[in-house]
Amino acid sequence: IPTSTEDLDQEVQELLLSLPREEGWFMSAKLCLYQGFWWPDNLLRNVICAQRHFQSHDQDIIILVSFPKCGTTWLKTLIFSIVNRSRYTSSNTPLLTTPPHKLVPFLELDVFDKKEPPVDLIGTTPSISPRLFSTHIPYSSLPESITKSNCRVVYICRNPFDVVVSWFHFATEGKPGKLDEEHFDSFFKRQVAVGPFWDHVLGYWKESLEKPHKTSFFMYEDLKGDIVFNLKRLAEFIGYPFSIEEEKRGVIQEIADLCSLKKLKDLEVNKSGSYLENYANNSFFRKGEVGDWANYLSSTVMQRLEKLMQEKLSGSGL
Ligand code: A3P
Repeated sequence: IPTSTEDLDQEVQELLLSLPREEGWFMSAKLCLYQGFWWPDNLLRNVICAQRHFQSHDQDIIILVSFPKCGTTWLKTLIFSIVNRSRYTSSNTPLLTTPPHKLVPFLELDVFDKKEPPVDLIGTTPSISPRLFSTHIPYSSLPESITKSNCRVVYICRNPFDVVVSWFHFATEGKPGKLDEEHFDSFFKRQVAVGPFWDHVLGYWKESLEKPHKTSFFMYEDLKGDIVFNLKRLAEFIGYPFSIEEEKRGVIQEIADLCSLKKLKDLEVNKSGSYLENYANNSFFRKGEVGDWANYLSSTVMQRLEKLMQEKLSGSGL
């Protein structure tokens, strides 16, 4: 373990020279293959820093994991609202004034992007409890303290074809571009950030089957289909179950409404400003539809990609 971040910076520079590196899928930065997954070069250091320094705690931490564009932002708002419902109402919740990505930071983008790992996050006595974090780190690369401790891990997955659509719009935001079948093909053939998609999803899926008390797997489509049922499931899993009295008072529906796409998208705080300078806050809120991909694919390509999906997921039960 390096004693200083300068040592780490030096080590990562050397590591980058030895790792396979490729141009990423469609407008992505250069990617390097680290522990079986493709990472943007500029995040490698943060991932390694998180792996070495992050200290999770049994009770006070909930890690929310996703492949990008699977519904991360939505899940952040839902988990934040469930956990903090005794502190805030829907008229004074920080969600009204703070972008979701600030409320639930990413380990590799926010927490470990600093020169030194933040002391209160690597220490053994956290000042805030429960602490909420998110990450795109694949299961096999998670910091050991997350897999070894009893902290809960919530994973959100989405139909990969809608992920392609969502990612395309996110990347081309404000720029001309037309989504075509070639983008879908290349998403599955080329290197894609934090991919391969299938390995990312299957890593957490298998873990959720083996240790259901530790990792819970949610589908974006299921949340869209029955938000109340899934919020109950989510709240129970993270240790904040709704009481019967809360159910009767409509607290669950209130959280669902507060975190609905329309509500969040219309908030001034999410309409302006940016996250990490590069991403406009409003680019995280688009259509939120299930099956938008069908508008972009011919039936022949659709069948071919569905066959590919079946092959990749076959035998997994997913
Ligand atoms: P679309 O581009 O298909 O609309 P992520 O948060 O992982 O980056 O995922 C972004 C996707 O989640 C976008 O999908 C976005 O519109 C959708 N999304 C964001 N907030 C949402 C919400 N409150 N409810 C449903 N979908 C939401």
